[in-house]
Amino acid sequence: MKSPFYPIEVHDLTVSYQRKPVLYGVDLEIEEGSLVGVIGPNGAGKSTLIKTIMNMVSPNGGFVKIFGKNPKAGTKHIGYIPQKESVDWDFPVTVMDVVLMGRYGRLGWFGRISKDDRRMAHECLEKVDMLPYANRQIGNLSGGQQQRVFLARALAQESSIYLMDEPFAGVDAVSEKAIVSILKSMQQDGKTLVIVHHDLATAKEYFDHLLLLNMRKIAYGPIQKVFTQDLLQKTYGGRLTIFSEMASQAARQPEIEMEKSIS
Ligand SMILES: Nc1ncnc2c1ncn2[C@@H]1O[C@H](COP(=O)(O)OP(=O)(O)OP(=O)(O)O)[C@@H](O)[C@H]1O
Ligand SMILES: [Mg+2]
Repeated sequence: MKSPFYPIEVHDLTVSYQRKPVLYGVDLEIEEGSLVGVIGPNGAGKSTLIKTIMNMVSPNGGFVKIFGKNPKAGTKHIGYIPQKESVDWDFPVTVMDVVLMGRYGRLGWFGRISKDDRRMAHECLEKVDMLPYANRQIGNLSGGQQQRVFLARALAQESSIYLMDEPFAGVDAVSEKAIVSILKSMQQDGKTLVIVHHDLATAKEYFDHLLLLNMRKIAYGPIQKVFTQDLLQKTYGGRLTIFSEMASQAARQPEIEMEKSIS
């Protein structure tokens, strides 16, 4: 059954680092079961928004609600994959250990990893095609393989909301497609997914909603309404690169005619 609350609600959010605002007045209501792409140039505040929703950064103004509650209480609902893992994985921990970490949040006081937890971790590794590496040390994997393990860890959390900050960074095209189909099946299960993404050429294919961000919310809504030349230009400040990216996208998807303006 759907919650009467939005999984993620952001109201008039302003965030600064050392008094320099990087997000201004962002309002957002994300419906349950949405698969949302977050798009914007480097430094647009995408990671900051994700971290603020995760309660890792405190806003200067406005607020975030997770299923109607303050993020402190709500973050246990959230599976989070940060932009490139900031942890040094030089110490001896196996792929299976990393995925089991996803289960710890579900254990109560004195809780122990059970057989079911192991089975779940096993299944999640299988989903991302990393089961043969279960006993490998995480530090000895390639960047893309590590990224897939972090996805497995997030899956093992069985959260209702997932925030993923560039989960495709360093992942090859075949794995990216495999991960996208996992994300779509999670959406089918009613999960809400917010994914920071850099590739405009695939945005239309991957997401059903889009948040265009450049320090302010430029637009949020169903992809057909938001993925327009006008709004993309506003987001990227009319930089030339945007036009070449869009041109290549249009060339790859000739059936999709770029909308010239929003109605
Ligand atoms: N811890 C920090 N202290 C000070 N400034 C920061 C900090 N983290 C980010 N910033 C600044 O805040 C702005 C937004 O950064 P953020 O990481 O949210 O951007 P982003 O949209 O995720 O960019 P990218 O596409 O490069 O990942 C940038 O100008 C960045 O330099
Ligand atoms: Mg970022």
